[in-house]
Order: sequence, then structure tokens, then C-alpha cells
Amino acid sequence: MVKITKGQKIGILTAGGDCPGINAAIRGVGKTAIVKYGMKLVGISDGFSGLINKDYADLSENDLSGILTLGGTILGTSREKPFKGKTKGKNEVSKPALIRENYEKLGLDCLVCIGGNGTLKTAHLLAQEGLNVVGIPKTIDNDVWGTDITFGFDSAVNIATEAIDRLHSTANSHKRIMLIELMGHNAGWIALYSGVAGGGDVILVPEIQYEEEKIAKYLMHRVSENKPYSIVVVGEGIKTPAKDMSAARYLSKRINEMTGLETRETVLGYIQRGGTPSPMDRVLATQYGASAADLIAKRQYGRMVALKNNEIISVPLSEVSGKLKLVEPDNPILIQARNMGTSFGD
Ligand code: F6P
Repeated sequence: MVKITKGQKIGILTAGGDCPGINAAIRGVGKTAIVKYGMKLVGISDGFSGLINKDYADLSENDLSGILTLGGTILGTSREKPFKGKTKGKNEVSKPALIRENYEKLGLDCLVCIGGNGTLKTAHLLAQEGLNVVGIPKTIDNDVWGTDITFGFDSAVNIATEAIDRLHSTANSHKRIMLIELMGHNAGWIALYSGVAGGGDVILVPEIQYEEEKIAKYLMHRVSENKPYSIVVVGEGIKTPAKDMSAARYLSKRINEMTGLETRETVLGYIQRGGTPSPMDRVLATQYGASAADLIAKRQYGRMVALKNNEIISVPLSEVSGKLKLVEPDNPILIQARNMGTSFGD
């Protein structure tokens, strides 16, 4: 029987791109830690910067009420990468050393890092420096290795799908080719899921090399089948030769040049990261948060909570760090979309 000691003190930080559900995760960790385990909480501001610059404050249970449905993060975030870059002067203390020093000064028993790939990599490096850390995977990109899904993804797919739904009506009115560019960094999860949910005719993901000619031919074929408009869903990470414009803008111009069809493009952008989390993200974030507190109570450090086959588990950060979960060519949703005639430009 694992001995649970009361009064452990844990620090919580959120780092990297924000997403809906972070506050639900903070609440999940915090309420479980306080209510079930009698732990003390310290909220660290703006990601790892807060631990470098001593920007932190105690978090009470009251501070956690009313945040479940709140978008963004009450702690703030940054893309501070403490292990990147060298210390300048010989007397300058390195950022990892400052983090360790302040972690000890605060008397923390564990540091909870809520973040995506970059954050979880930093968490792993801090664990190797001897800090007790637990990771919680969050990102709209859903590209964190070791977990089936990250919170933030479901909300982003809902937002993107609604946008695609709206594009159908205006595309049909004007008999146009509508391109919509979606976030996702180097992974195509948002484009794939919202492309299928929104009835996209062409779905371009970074993981699949496309050919402009094949897209043009496919769109002309649709016209010959009396399908006067088409929706082209573009994952932002796809490669194009143009560096000075969005992928959607570049392809919009090329498709128009190659087919003569009227094209228009939308880059959905940060709307995908904003606003209240979907119910599924609220539940998943709460589950991840509560499970992180359980890991701490059992002193199972150096791990990330994860969802595997609908079960909450935990995996070593060493297995997650530095890896990306990408859309595989044999992904069943992708295969089924192909079988239904959707083009992936290849
Ligand atoms: O990782 C989340 C994400 O929104 C990606 O989809 C996107 O490529 C990136 O962050 C944008 O980063 P920033 O917020 O630094 O502009």
C-alpha cells in the first residue's frame, strides 16, 4: 500500500501555445491535490519564465472555482525554453540552475508541467536534473507522442468544422473553390478530422506529399461531374515553394492559374485556440489533471498522464520527449475518406 503523505507542495505551470481546456486541467490537478490529498499549490506564471524570474503565488481552492469553462490559461504561458541558448557571462547562472534553485527555495515536492512537445521535453530534461516532474499533454495539434489524444484538439476541430460548414454555403453561391488553412504545426490531425467532419473534397496534410497538378485535375473532374464548388482543407504544415505567403494563399493562386476556376482562401488562425473548451476537452483535461495529482501522491514522478484505448494511464517522459505523433498513411479515418473519393492531393 503506497503511503500518501499529507501536505506535499506542488507547483503548476502552463507553457507553449495555449488551448481550450488548460484551466480545466489546472482545476483538475488543484482540486484533487487540495481536496483529496491536502496538498499545497503554487501557481507559476508564464511557463518556465515564472520559475526563472520568481513569478509565482500560492493557489487556493477558491482560485480554482469558476475556471472550468474558461479559455486560455489563468497562469499565463510563454515559449521559454530554458535549456536552449548558452549562459553569457561566466558569473551568469544558467536558467535550468535558476529553476532548480527556485524549485528548492519554494520547497516544492513536484512540478506539474502542462504543455505540448516542447514543454514535455523541458520537463524531461528537468527530471534528468533531479527535479520531480509530472507532465500533462495539451495542444490543439494532437501531436504529443504516447497519448491517443490531447485536450484542446476536440475544441479546435469543432471550431474548424464550423468554419468549413459555413464555407460550403458561400462556395456554392459563387461556384468557387474555397481553401481553408488550419493549424496543426507539422501534424495534420486538425485538417484530417475537421476535413472529414466538414465534408472537405481535398484534404492536404503535412504527412502526405501532394502534387499541384493532381489537385487541379481532381477539381476539374468535379466540375465535369457537375459539382461546381469544392472545399480544399489545408494543414498549415504542408510544404509550398512560396515563403512569403500562407500555404492556402499560394495554392489558391496556383489552382486558379491551372484551372481558371475562381478561388478564395481563409486562414483560420488563432480562433482555433480561443474560447471555452468543448465538453469532451473539459472532461479529458479534468481526468488528466486529477490523474496527475494521483501520480504525485504515489510519488510516481518523471511521467506524463495519457489516454490509451480510452483508459487513463501514465508513460515515462523519457518515452515522449523529442517525438511527434503524426498522421500515418494507413490511418483508418484517412483510408475511409479516400475510399469515399476524398483527394489527399497525391
Ligand atoms: O502548437 C499550437 C499552435 O497553435 C500550432 O498549431 C501553431 O503552428 C503554433 O502553435 C503557433 O505558434 P505561436 O502561438 O507561437 O504563433
